[in-house]
Amino acid sequence: MTSKHRVAVIVGSLRKGSHTRKLARALIALAPASLDCNFVEIGDLALYTEDLDETPPTAWTRFREEIRRVDAVLFVTPEYNRSVPGGLKNAIDVGSRPPFQSVWDGLPAAVVSQSPYKLGGFGANHHLRQSLVFLNMPVLQQPEAYIPEVAEMFDGQEGLTPEARTFLERFVVAFADWVSLVRAARVRATEG
Ligand code: FNR
Repeated sequence: MTSKHRVAVIVGSLRKGSHTRKLARALIALAPASLDCNFVEIGDLALYTEDLDETPPTAWTRFREEIRRVDAVLFVTPEYNRSVPGGLKNAIDVGSRPPFQSVWDGLPAAVVSQSPYKLGGFGANHHLRQSLVFLNMPVLQQPEAYIPEVAEMFDGQEGLTPEARTFLERFVVAFADWVSLVRAARVRATEG
């Protein structure tokens, strides 16, 4: 390995005390040395409209530049009304424009969804994947991560239960392998 892969970690909840962010912090802590994971914030992004893009808001420019600097994206999200929270969808839209200048193009990605309930955010997870197909982001297929009853993953504080640690570690290692694979293929494609 020559250098670390930079990963943008995008959290779909804007809530103080968010379970999703706690989960994302746990994933970052478990990430192997090949990944350099950092949060990229989305809470200050104005709602997307082409009108604003004539003079893009500073937060849009900041966000687009931060994504341009990374090699991969890890989305960690709750589910709102069986779909992607509006703030996260807005961030996807902001990054996708102006036309033909999408910051997402070709970036390997993974999706983790969570819920306090039994279904683990499956709807949000797959609606997000639908956008990622269009944005040409190769998404890790397995293991899938639909985390149900998220509070049960933690042992009271920030600590993970042993089962949760095992699962999340397996997931983030698979993501690291996926990022290496996709980035290597991309290098070969540009060189070849
Ligand atoms: C929710 N919640 C929710 N949960 C779920 O499993 N499926 C759903 O469709 C919804 N819908 C939904 C809509 C809206 C508008 C809100 C605010 C919440 C509950 C949600 O999963 C719960 O609030 C999580 O704790 C949110 O994650 P954070 O904020 O703790 O990271």
